[in-house]
Amino acid sequence: MPQFATYPSLAGKSVLVTGGASGIGAQIVRAFAAQGSKVGFLDVDTAGSTALADELNGEGAAVGFELCDLRDIEATKGAIAALATRYGPATVLVNNAARDDRHGWETVTPDYFDERIATNLKHMFFAIQAVAPGMIAAGGGAIVNMGSNSWWEAGGGMPAYTTAKAAVHGMTRSFARDLGPHRIRVNTVVPGWIMTDRQKELWVTEAAIAKHRDRQCLKDLIEPAYVARMVLFLASDDAAMCTANNYMVEAGSI
Ligand SMILES: NC(=O)c1ccc[n+]([C@@H]2O[C@H](COP(=O)([O-])OP(=O)(O)OC[C@H]3O[C@@H](n4cnc5c(N)ncnc54)[C@H](O)[C@@H]3O)[C@@H](O)[C@H]2O)c1
Repeated sequence: MPQFATYPSLAGKSVLVTGGASGIGAQIVRAFAAQGSKVGFLDVDTAGSTALADELNGEGAAVGFELCDLRDIEATKGAIAALATRYGPATVLVNNAARDDRHGWETVTPDYFDERIATNLKHMFFAIQAVAPGMIAAGGGAIVNMGSNSWWEAGGGMPAYTTAKAAVHGMTRSFARDLGPHRIRVNTVVPGWIMTDRQKELWVTEAAIAKHRDRQCLKDLIEPAYVARMVLFLASDDAAMCTANNYMVEAGSI
């Protein structure tokens, strides 16, 4: 039976996760809670957020959330500040939220393009801006931005999403440079095709799975927990000299 790591450096840490109510984000919230971290998350999903926080708090965890639409930067900053008063300033930030809605390149309007950037990129930048002063004051921190292998694979059918996701990688490297002198590490985790409820509802078919297994060196499907384990490592002191890089969790999807 597989056994997974416990990181003493994560116990008691104040952790902020965006998009924590479902999918990979929910698994990240669970994973930090299991390490004894204090976890605040942001989401628009009232029912999902409440159910997750109630479940984990019922098990003795310290998990709370603020409802906010991350496309609204002022609301996002307010929600981050509210969580900081409850759990202390975050010294771990996981910029996870995004939406991989499909769209044809011919139909993208300037407004839709802006909406895709707001959903998939802009809040990540401003969340970093909001938490960095607290991390500097604390003497360091760890930021994990969720990228995607969709654009590495030259995936089509959602070019405004993949454009935003590609930019996440550049954002990571620039912030790693600017924040590195403060011992703040900034990395990108790059998921392959992860079997979240949303993926299962919208895109998983037998044919798509067969094609994907062909592509992956490892043939098992990738559950959200595998991504969460990589995030834990990067957030922990065990990753003290890891920054500015991409950490793939894609089963060798070439
Ligand atoms: N699932 C995959 O196969 C896959 C592959 C590559 C990259 N990723 C990346 O992993 C991350 C998580 O993806 P996921 O598959 O778990 O997504 P998901 O749709 O399952 O969950 C995303 C969560 O973010 C929340 N959210 C979305 N937009 C929001 C907004 N404007 N304001 C507040 N909350 C919002 C949703 O309510 C949801 O709880 C994303 O950055 C995604 O791009 C996922």
